[in-house]
Amino acid sequence: MNRVLYDYPEYYEVAFSFRDFAREADFLQSCIKQFSTIPVRRIFEVACGPAPHAEELTRRGYAYTGLDINRNMLDHAQYKWRHLSPRPELIEGDMISFEHAMTVDFAYVMLGSLYLNNPDEMNRHFDTMAGILNEGGLYFLDWCIQFSDPLKYEGSDSFTVERDGIAVDSKFDIRLVDQDRQMYEEIWTVNVNDHSRHRRFEMVERNKAIFPPEFVEFLNRRSDFEFVGWWKNWNLNLPIDDFTNVTRPVVLLRRVAG
Ligand SMILES: C[S@@+](CC[C@H](N)C(=O)[O-])C[C@H]1O[C@@H](n2cnc3c(N)ncnc32)[C@H](O)[C@@H]1O
Repeated sequence: MNRVLYDYPEYYEVAFSFRDFAREADFLQSCIKQFSTIPVRRIFEVACGPAPHAEELTRRGYAYTGLDINRNMLDHAQYKWRHLSPRPELIEGDMISFEHAMTVDFAYVMLGSLYLNNPDEMNRHFDTMAGILNEGGLYFLDWCIQFSDPLKYEGSDSFTVERDGIAVDSKFDIRLVDQDRQMYEEIWTVNVNDHSRHRRFEMVERNKAIFPPEFVEFLNRRSDFEFVGWWKNWNLNLPIDDFTNVTRPVVLLRRVAG
């Protein structure tokens, strides 16, 4: 079996251990305070991985639910957060369409982890989200809409993070797959040095680029989500009013009757 980095949640966590989860949770909370039209009790993360915000959100009084397709990630999160009260709910499933027994008041997806490859998958995902999100609740999308064209990007980013004797070196590349269908692949190459035991992973994520005008059109064709706003740099004082030089864009939608 071909193992991917997501099968090793502890390496994934080292790779992203530079993130400030308290600050990220504060930002989610400020979106809720400013834009939610319902009180928020339960928060839902799509593609939650190791559920990195579970503790910070629980500390702020929310109940946390995460969805992921990878069993190892969910088992890791379950064990890591076993001390929290209420215990995080963790659901195994595919974001395109999944079963759920509850409804939630706020939903989010981080780091562009919206893996939808065509309009049918987008519709099925938003149908499912409309079923789980209570009316008035927000859907927060981090880096999921492409304000700069990934298909024109030809470069690579890399960084190394070390924690507890484990060094994780990440390199990101982008490859065009099909210009007409706006398909591209992100290749994330990871080299791990775990106390001198070396491993290498190559993660290829195929995605359809979603550009802002197309996304607004998509929402307009649906009646169950409204556009609330988009901002750059995770800063609610920086609304996006032209599409140049946009870094780390967030988009907020609201579930409406429909
Ligand atoms: C980059 S990680 C993001 C983890 C977490 N949200 C965070 O902020 O660190 C992406 C996650 O998406 C999950 N994933 C990939 N495809 C998925 C799908 N179709 N449905 C649900 N989860 C998926 C992977 O297993 C992985 O845990």
